[in-house]
Amino acid sequence: MPTDDLADFVRRLPKAELHLHIEGTLEPELMFALARRNGVTIPFASVEAVRAAYDFSRLQDFLDIYYAGAAVLLTRADFHDLALAYFRRLAADGGVHAEIFFDPQTHTHRGVPMAEVMEGLLSAMDAAQAELGVTSRLILCFLRHLDEADAFATLEAARPWLSRLTGVGLDSSELGHPPAKFARVLAAARDLGLKVMVHAGEEGPPAYVWEAVDLIGVDRIDHGNRALEDPALVQRLVADGTTLTVCPLSNLKLCVVPDLASHPLKRMLALGLAATVNSDDPAYFGGYLLENYVRTAEALGLTRGELVQLARNSFAGSFLPEDEKARWLKKVEAVG
Ligand code: HPA
Ligand code: ZN
Repeated sequence: MPTDDLADFVRRLPKAELHLHIEGTLEPELMFALARRNGVTIPFASVEAVRAAYDFSRLQDFLDIYYAGAAVLLTRADFHDLALAYFRRLAADGGVHAEIFFDPQTHTHRGVPMAEVMEGLLSAMDAAQAELGVTSRLILCFLRHLDEADAFATLEAARPWLSRLTGVGLDSSELGHPPAKFARVLAAARDLGLKVMVHAGEEGPPAYVWEAVDLIGVDRIDHGNRALEDPALVQRLVADGTTLTVCPLSNLKLCVVPDLASHPLKRMLALGLAATVNSDDPAYFGGYLLENYVRTAEALGLTRGELVQLARNSFAGSFLPEDEKARWLKKVEAVG
């Protein structure tokens, strides 16, 4: 399919984004504007210098710069502007629903009150629904390089907003920080009625994905690439229908794959895994949702049928109520 036709087709397909860190949508232009607005100094001379620094060979390279960039986010207006800019891009890509991660510890550890983060994000989510018709859910991520006590304190600090949280996740440096380290706090979150997911198998071994499934009992796996190294694990994920929130351009930028042509997405679908396509940290990885679909489809020769399956999986794996899922799935079939 020529690229224009492909992009057109994917744009018309209704899609949900299930793996998106809102701090990872901070474009260099907005970083500079917020630095000016807040009187914060950043270690870059220009927007071009920021972009030039986005050259990563592993997850930690990215995380170091991602946490540094977040220093410009101070007030609820900053979080609102950040999130609304993302929702506008999503809508332009034909995205209709997003389940967004945020990393409160990145902010509360700098002295930003939880209320500033929560109220800014929630007001942008409300505005996205009113102005763009884009629905969303909010997922609080614990930073796994910190300890479990800090995660418990974060869960407690978020309690006033519990009714507006859909789930909790686990992100940041994977290697050396297995899901088991957070088993108690993730169980406590589930007891509060929250969905539970963890990043696993991005850099970490299949054993971390097994832990996520067997010990934590996750509702979704974020990434999951390395599960393919273990046929018994693949069989288990297929049998459970576990959604994998895969992020092709992230995988490319963080050297999880050497090139997009080697990306396992097509293989995942062929194996019967409930894989989805997502953008992870699009301001850092060079493409939002549509570009993730299009570039991966070109590199792997994905068929229209496979693209439709990915869109279907995005709603089936979402935390939307069943009637809304069914409504979107019908619309996907109408385009496909
Ligand atoms: N992996 C782990 N932590 C993250 C990521 C990721 O891809 N993006 C933001 N935090
Ligand atoms: Zn992620």
